Amino acid sequence: MIGRLNHVAIAVPDLEAARALYRDTLGARVSPIVDQPEHGVRTVFVDLPNTKIELLGVLGENSPIAGFLERNPAGGIHHLCYEVEDILAARDRLRAQGARVLGDGEPKIGAHGKPVLFLHPKDFCGTLVELEQA
Ligand code: CO
Repeated sequence: MIGRLNHVAIAVPDLEAARALYRDTLGARVSPIVDQPEHGVRTVFVDLPNTKIELLGVLGENSPIAGFLERNPAGGIHHLCYEVEDILAARDRLRAQGARVLGDGEPKIGAHGKPVLFLHPKDFCGTLVELEQA
C-alpha cells in the first residue's frame, strides 16, 4: 500500500542554523524558510535526488513540535512520510487493522498542499508516520 518515501522530517531548535548546515556543510539544495501558521511550524525542504528532508522549527506558542524539542533539545527525527495513492482508502484499511489515526481522522492539507494523515507512533515501531496522498 505505501509507496515512495516522500520525506524524513527532522525537528530542530534553530532552523536558520540547520538550513545553513545542510546547505554549506552537506552541500544540499535547500528551500527558503516557509512559515506554516496553520501547522505551528516553519519548514525548510532539503532536496535530495531520491527524497526530501523536511527541517521543522517551532512557530508560535502551541507548536506541535515544542514537546518533542523539550525531550530532544538538540533536535531529532520527528516523522517519516510515505506516499499513498488514496489516503481515505489507506486510512480505512489501517483502522480496520487496529492502527490509530491521529486527530479526527480527516486528512488535513499538509506542507505540500496535499492531503495528509498521521499515525500513532506506538502502532508503528515507535515512529510517527505521516501518509501523504501523492
Ligand atoms: Co511531514
